[in-house]
Amino acid sequence: MSTVKTLTGEEHFKAVISHAKEYGFIFQSSEIYDGLSAVYDYGQCGAPLKNNIREYWWRAMVQMNENIAGIDAAIFMHPTVWKASGHVDAFNDPLIDNKDSKKRYRADVLIEDHIAKIEAKIEKEVTKAKQRFGESFDEAMFRSTNPRVVENQKKIDEINQRLKDCLERNDLEGVRQLILDLEIVCPVSGTRNWTEVRQFNLMFATQMGSVSEEASTIYLRPETAQGIFVNFLNVYKTGRMKIPFGIAQTGKAFRNEIVARQFIFRMREFEQMEMQYFVRPGTEMQWYEHWKQARMQWHLTLGISSTKYRFHDHIKLAHYANAACDIEFEFPFGFKELEGIHSRTDFDLKSHEQHSGKKLQYFDPELNESYVPYVVETSIGLDRMFLAVLSATYKEETLEDGSDRTVLSIPPALAPVKCAVLPLVNKDNLPEKAREIMDQIKFGFDCMFDAKDSIGKRYRRQDAIGTPYCITIDHQTLQDNTVTIRERDTMQQERIHTSEVSRIVEERVSMKALLSKVS
Ligand code: GAP
Repeated sequence: MSTVKTLTGEEHFKAVISHAKEYGFIFQSSEIYDGLSAVYDYGQCGAPLKNNIREYWWRAMVQMNENIAGIDAAIFMHPTVWKASGHVDAFNDPLIDNKDSKKRYRADVLIEDHIAKIEAKIEKEVTKAKQRFGESFDEAMFRSTNPRVVENQKKIDEINQRLKDCLERNDLEGVRQLILDLEIVCPVSGTRNWTEVRQFNLMFATQMGSVSEEASTIYLRPETAQGIFVNFLNVYKTGRMKIPFGIAQTGKAFRNEIVARQFIFRMREFEQMEMQYFVRPGTEMQWYEHWKQARMQWHLTLGISSTKYRFHDHIKLAHYANAACDIEFEFPFGFKELEGIHSRTDFDLKSHEQHSGKKLQYFDPELNESYVPYVVETSIGLDRMFLAVLSATYKEETLEDGSDRTVLSIPPALAPVKCAVLPLVNKDNLPEKAREIMDQIKFGFDCMFDAKDSIGKRYRRQDAIGTPYCITIDHQTLQDNTVTIRERDTMQQERIHTSEVSRIVEERVSMKALLSKVS
């Protein structure tokens, strides 16, 4: 039996970041030039993990749903797209500076962080009570009756309500006043010496065309969704789609995030996986509920503890939405948005109709009428999902013999390397035999050959990158063509025939098996 070391959130997060670098998952962009803030590169283990998460999403959306079509739209789009979508006028963050530290913050995030501290107090009370009352503990009752919990929850609701009211009225002075009233201090200077709150547009602009006078300003897309809306008609007509139907895509998005922190949680260049589901007006709430459940199921199928996920309804609805929630994930720094599910009404298509002068309507043969469909959107950040997987599966263990290991118990279908091929010693024809086996199995899944250092060290290296299976070739292999197969999480070994390796590993690591559980 091994025991998992308990780490505080901060220790856990630091360990994940340095592990990600040490084992080739994530590097700071342009590191030799001291890096570029909030931009990251994926290394030799990170790129395949990211590809596998993307594939899991794509196949669950496009392959498993015959009424969802996958596309790949360009990053550059006509500038009017961003006028129509509202991004030119309203894609802003409310910013505030601390005059002493000269640090800049998102005003709403300062308030949310304050709320998170009150939430942490509530959770502490609940955990203490759980330990005290054991089996007989009624959590719902405790939360609704314990005076300290009730009082703190009331505080949270009041703050949320004030923030919502201010944001809805675009009352920036009100947001500042809330920060002052809550006595929020700058985490760096510790003072309350705040500037006014100002709006800041998050889109990156650039010029298209080589002659500057003729150049027109275009934007790096801040979301992939608009590439789907402008292709609605193309896909509907050429794909002979019938409502309800979806269009899905994955791709890069860019936002000039001011408060870019928490590693790959908030980046300036990141990747989204979005799906727009076009439905008959009036049915959108039913589809909104459907996609909430379907997306949660996609997450839970990975086998990461369900306690790490929760729904959070938006307190302030965007002007185009009639319902919206987030799937939040418990990152090492607390519960934060991982995915958004939004009922976007007919806002985007109608606005593109107005700006382009083209009819973006669907002819519904059952109703014998044309209309602009309503849209339910699911939108998840690939990098955020990467961080969720990495942080939830990172463990430091002390083994029975007193030694330590760091393991990533990544769901096998997502693991960057599925099977390591290890000759017990780097001599006696074992490396040649191991190569022979590797050449047979490498067509089915990603393998890694490693002959350097002791076998124990090599197992540790594979544990650290999350390889679910190690095959060890020893002297017996030369006699009877059997190898040992070691499973990452249990560290149990069994002896199997070389001809079985491919089938056994494939069965346990296949994306197919994972997908069959989603549906
Ligand atoms: N089309 C809707 C849309 O873009 P969003 O809530 O702004 O909605 C969707 O973004 C998802 O994209 C988020 O839930 C998050 O996972 C990811 N995301 C947004 N901004 C990000 C950033 N700066 N860095 C990394 N991921 C980000």
